[in-house]
Amino acid sequence: MDRLNIIGGAQLNGRIRVSGAKNSALKLMVACLLTDEPITLTNMPSLADTRFLAQLLETLGVEVYWPKGESTCHLNAAELKSTIAPYEQVRKMRASFNVLGPLIARSGHATVSLPGGCAIGARPVDLHLQALEAMGADLKVESGYVKAAAIQGLKGAHIVFAMPSVGATEHAMLTATLAKGETILENAAREPEIEDLADCLNSMGAKVTGAGTSTIRITGVEKLHGTTHAVMPDRIEAGTYAMAAAAAGGDVTLDGAPVEALGAMIAKLREAGVTVDADEAASTLRIRRNGTRLKAVSVSTQPHPGFPTDLQAQFMALMSLADGTSIIRETIFENRFMHAPELSRLGADINVRGQEAVVKGVPQLTGAPVMATDLRASVSLVIAGLAAQGETVVNRIYHLDRGFERLEAKLNACGANIQRLSGEDE
Ligand code: UD1
Repeated sequence: MDRLNIIGGAQLNGRIRVSGAKNSALKLMVACLLTDEPITLTNMPSLADTRFLAQLLETLGVEVYWPKGESTCHLNAAELKSTIAPYEQVRKMRASFNVLGPLIARSGHATVSLPGGCAIGARPVDLHLQALEAMGADLKVESGYVKAAAIQGLKGAHIVFAMPSVGATEHAMLTATLAKGETILENAAREPEIEDLADCLNSMGAKVTGAGTSTIRITGVEKLHGTTHAVMPDRIEAGTYAMAAAAAGGDVTLDGAPVEALGAMIAKLREAGVTVDADEAASTLRIRRNGTRLKAVSVSTQPHPGFPTDLQAQFMALMSLADGTSIIRETIFENRFMHAPELSRLGADINVRGQEAVVKGVPQLTGAPVMATDLRASVSLVIAGLAAQGETVVNRIYHLDRGFERLEAKLNACGANIQRLSGEDE
């Protein structure tokens, strides 16, 4: 298993280009199932997760042309050869579950494994299933699989979500594009990736309005057609590098950054004493910290436009070096503090009490071997390692490869000292 060896202490200086958003790319890829015409996605991040979903789509009969190292992916679901998404594939990557609705819409039936829990919590799919049922799908759960059929076809429905779920909103939106009549989604999630998906669906001939607000209306159409769509830039990747620069110090400009989508994070960085120049028109974000100590700032994760849960671990790494005490509250997932004990191994002073972590800033972290537990947790260890004195070895970085494209190359180009080592964990 690969690991990263980080020699900390160097400031970061330079420019980093932000890649396409993983979380958007995954749902855009699923959209190809809704049409028998080709879909071309540009600005695609080449990641373990996106490559993995491409394999699942191939299993279903989608022709995928996406040469290694390229950021353009061609998908053609002219003919589906299977409507079964097996456990081995859905278990490894939860977003695979979103093929269920599109498969029913396209073929009238589907069998898709339940994703199961994951390291950061139980993560049920009840809201997804309620939405599909409301649209007329007949669902049975048997032996860990959802067996679904819509003999009469899917029909529009008025769905009020009990809580804003990104996955359920996207799943319902994808499915409703081909349902008969109007679907209204209330208390929908408002994440920018949902707008990206709506834009792509509309360019395929769908009729979606209101994406990015909590009420989305979809008028079903008979047929969708092919399109070319550019994946939006990854706000979580951009936020991660912004925090890396803030933690290590220096002067880093992020090019192609989704500035508007990062409002909550930018406000917190400024409160912490980091200089942030955000240029929405130029899509650049310049992060500077020279010599001044960070100030402790408390944060609570919230659905968009609040502070994203996917940046919570990175912010904790930053706050572990701040002057004072910060309270970090996780409100989206119930078990998302696994990075706290690993950060403590580097000398951070963190006390977790239920959904809250109390972080007492220390003047200096010191390198140590640590273990990555999930995608965002792993990158928080990289951030801490960059700021720490001495050597940090981050084990189990396959988590990192799921969501960060060329991480060490991007950071090393700004003066970081990160080496990837193949082989056994330490
Ligand atoms: C997506 C993102 C993930 C991010 C999360 C929250 C992708 C591939 N992943 O995950 O990176 O951390 O949004 O911004 O886009 N819930 C239910 N029932 C459901 C669905 C969700 O109870 O049917 C709960 C979840 O357990 C969680 C909360 O709702 O506590 C939010 O989850 P959701 O917004 O659905 O996250 P994902 O779409 O899984």
